Amino acid sequence: MTTLSESAFAKVNLTLDVLGIRDDGYHELESVMQTISLCDDIQINVGTKRPWIMHCSREDIPADERNLAWKAAKFFFENTKIDPDGLEINITKRIPSEAGLGGGSSDAGAVLRALNSYYGQPYSIAELAKLGALVGSDVPFCVVGGTAMVKGRGEHVRRLPNLPECTFVLCKPDFSSSTPVLYKKLDETVILKHPNNHAMEQALMKKDLQSIAKNIYNVFDPVVADEHDEINIIKSAFYHAGALGQQMSGSGTTVFGIFSDHDAAERIYNALKNQYPNTFIAKQV
Ligand code: C5P
Repeated sequence: MTTLSESAFAKVNLTLDVLGIRDDGYHELESVMQTISLCDDIQINVGTKRPWIMHCSREDIPADERNLAWKAAKFFFENTKIDPDGLEINITKRIPSEAGLGGGSSDAGAVLRALNSYYGQPYSIAELAKLGALVGSDVPFCVVGGTAMVKGRGEHVRRLPNLPECTFVLCKPDFSSSTPVLYKKLDETVILKHPNNHAMEQALMKKDLQSIAKNIYNVFDPVVADEHDEINIIKSAFYHAGALGQQMSGSGTTVFGIFSDHDAAERIYNALKNQYPNTFIAKQV
C-alpha cells in the first residue's frame, strides 16, 4: 500500500461574469479565479486490497460515491484503465461547504493531481483539467490552480500572471445559497454591472494590487446582498478595516477582502471570527 498526500486549496473569484445560458442549460462564464492557502488535506491510500472506502472529518459531507473526490478518482481510473487494487480517500476538511470557495471541487482537483503524479503523469495538466470538467464546473480550475481566466462552463482555463503579495480575509455568514437557484434568479434579473475582465488582466500583468482590488466584481454579489444585508455589513467591515477591495466569492456566501497591510488583515480577522466561526485568513497560492 502507498499513501499519497495533497493539499486541496480553496478558490475565490476575483471576478465572476455570467454571459448567458447555453444550450446544455449551464451558463457561459468569464471569471478570474485565484487559489488561496485555506485548504483541505487529502490523503489517498492506493493498493489497500479492499473495497473503496472514504472518510471525511465532517460528518454532514457524504463520504461515498456522491463525493466529488470519489467521482474524480473513479473517472481517473476508468479513463486510464489503471486498477488501483483498492483505494482509501481521507479528507480533513477546513474549507466550509456551500461557501463559494470550491470546497468539493478543490478536493476533486487534488485527487486528480495526486493520482496523475503517482501513476507517472498519464495526462498533461490540460488533459487532467478536461477530465475534471466531467466531475464539476469548478474542477478544471482547481486542477490548475494559481491565478487564471476561466471561461465556458468552467472548462477553459488560461493561466494569468500570479497575484502580487497580499492577504485575504474570508468570512462566511451563517446562511448559504443554492447555486442553481442563484443562476435562475440571475436569469430573471437584468445584470446592471459586469466586471471588467480586460482591466483585471491588465492590472495582473502590471502587478498593480490597487487596480486588481478595484476591479474585483462578482455579478452574484448584488443578487445575494439584495436579500441578505449581512453581505453588505461584512463588506463594510472589510472596507473600514483598510481592505483594498471586497466582494462575495462565487455563488456565495463567503465575502473576502484583499489587504496589502497584513496587520490590518489580522485585526479584522480577529474581530470577525468572534462573531463568525467561518472566518479565515489566507495568502494567495
Ligand atoms: O458543474 P456543477 O455541478 O458544479 O454546477 C452546479 C450547478 O451550477 C449546475 O447544476 C448549474 O445549475 C449551475 N451552473 C451553471 N453554469 C455553470 C456552472 C454551474 O448554470 N457554468
